[in-house]
Amino acid sequence: MPRRWFGAVVLAVVASLTLVVLGGLRAWAFDGALIRVDQGARARTGLNLREKRGSALDLEVGGDLAGVPAGSVRYLSREDLEALPQVSYMVTDDANFSGPVQVRGVELGILAREFAAGGEKALVVALCGDLYRAHYSQAYVLAHRPLLVLEINGAGPSGWPKSKGASSMGPYLISHSHFTPSFRIFAHDEEAQIPWGVVRLEFRSEEAVFGGIAPRGPSAGDAGVQAGFRIARENCLRCHGPSSFGRLKGQINWAGIAFFADASPSEFTAYMRNPRSVAPSAQMPGNPEYDDPTTRALIAYFETFIAKKKP
Ligand code: HEC
Repeated sequence: MPRRWFGAVVLAVVASLTLVVLGGLRAWAFDGALIRVDQGARARTGLNLREKRGSALDLEVGGDLAGVPAGSVRYLSREDLEALPQVSYMVTDDANFSGPVQVRGVELGILAREFAAGGEKALVVALCGDLYRAHYSQAYVLAHRPLLVLEINGAGPSGWPKSKGASSMGPYLISHSHFTPSFRIFAHDEEAQIPWGVVRLEFRSEEAVFGGIAPRGPSAGDAGVQAGFRIARENCLRCHGPSSFGRLKGQINWAGIAFFADASPSEFTAYMRNPRSVAPSAQMPGNPEYDDPTTRALIAYFETFIAKKKP
C-alpha cells in the first residue's frame, strides 16, 4: 500500500472509531437524560406531575414526592386525577352535607402510592385555602379509605353545595363512604377528617411530622401525656402547630398553647370546651364533650413543652 493511502486508511479508521465512541457516548448521555426525565416527571403509573399550574382547579402537590427533589412543588390537573382509578358511592354521614350525596373521586391511598416518596406509608396532609389542614396516617387511610372528591352528584366544583358558612367547597374536598371512629381516648372519639376547600396535598413522613410535636422531658411516656398527644395531633394540629409550620389557621402556636395551658389551666379548659365563654368573638370550634380526664390529658401533654425551673 502506498504511504499516502496508508495514512488515509488510518485516518478513516480513527475517524470512524471516534464516531462510534461519540455515538456511544451520545446514546449513554441520552439514556441518562431519559432516566432523569422518567424519575423527574413521572410517578408509578407514568402519570405526569406538571411543573406549572395550568388552571385554578389544579391540585398542588408537595412534600416528599417520588422522583423529584425534596421541596419541589408540582401540579395535577383534574384530567390527570380523572385518569387514576375512580371510586363512586353515596355519602350519608358527612357533616359537610345536609343530605345524601353521590361522590366520585380518587382514594388518598392511591395518590400516596402513586406520588409519595414513602409510598403508602406516607402521611398525607391536606391543606386548605384558609390554612386549615387534615392529616391522614397510613392507619387512618387503611381504616377509613378517605376519598379526594372530584365530583358531587355528577357535578364539578362550580355545581357543589356550599359549606355551612356559605363558602364554595371546591376545588377539592375529602369524604368517606361512611365513618365509624376506630378508637376513643377518654371523651375524644376518633374524628372524621373531612376538609373542604383543599388546594394542596403534601406527602410527609409520619415520624417527622408527629415526632416534631412528640411530648418532651421525663413525663413524656406517661399514659396521660401520651393520650393528650394523640388527641392534640387529631384535633388541635388541624389549626395549630409548632412555629416551624409557618402561618396556620389558629395563629397561636404550640408553644403559645403550652404557655396558656400551664399559666391558667382552668381558663384553658373553658376555652377548649367553649371558646366563646372566654373570648366572645372566638372562631375556634368548641369541644363541649371533653370531660375532666380529657382536658387534664391535654394539659399534661402541652405542659411537657414548658421548661420548668428546678425547685
Ligand atoms: C378548626 C380550627 C381549630 C382547632 C381544631 C383548634 N383551634 Fe384553637 N384556635 C383556633 C383559632 C382560629 C383561634 C384564634 C382565636 C379564635 O378565633 O378562637 C384559636 C385560639 C386558641 C387558643 C387561644 C389563644 C388566645 O389567643 O388566647 C387556644 C389556647 C387554643 N386555640 C387551643 C387549642 C387547642 C388546645 C386545640 C385542640 C384541643 C385547638 N385549639 C383546636 C382554631 C382552632
